[in-house]
Amino acid sequence: MAQATVTRRYRFCAAHRLHTDLLSPEENCATFGKCNNPNGHGHNYVVFVSVTGDIDPTTHQVLDGQRLDHMVERIVVQRFDHRDLNEDVEFANQTTTGENLVLLIWNLLVKAIPEGRLAKVGVIETRDNYFEYSGSAEGVQKEYEVRHG
Ligand code: NI
Repeated sequence: MAQATVTRRYRFCAAHRLHTDLLSPEENCATFGKCNNPNGHGHNYVVFVSVTGDIDPTTHQVLDGQRLDHMVERIVVQRFDHRDLNEDVEFANQTTTGENLVLLIWNLLVKAIPEGRLAKVGVIETRDNYFEYSGSAEGVQKEYEVRHG
């Protein structure tokens, strides 16, 4: 049976501040630049969720898009939309980098989606900043080094 991968797009707006207690104030500023601003700032995050599977012989589809939408709305969008990411319990001891955010979204969704079907999660933070994770051993692939371009 032929397989295909379907990707759906979701959006949420959230505030955050990049800061780690592992670094001094000066090192935080040097590492994170204006993202370390104590007042925080916001992004219009875009999340891509890719699901792989057999093309159903009856529906000719890989997945029920509405079911995925409800799941992602409940697990991801409602959790983060118009919130401060730094206040999320999962970020109590983690910096709210795009790398950590894409990992968290993967970890939240992989528990809810049938085993082996979640192929990839992508997060756009800014115009020039995209993060993705596919559960691979290599971990997070950061495609662009430029922050907040
Ligand atoms: Ni930021």
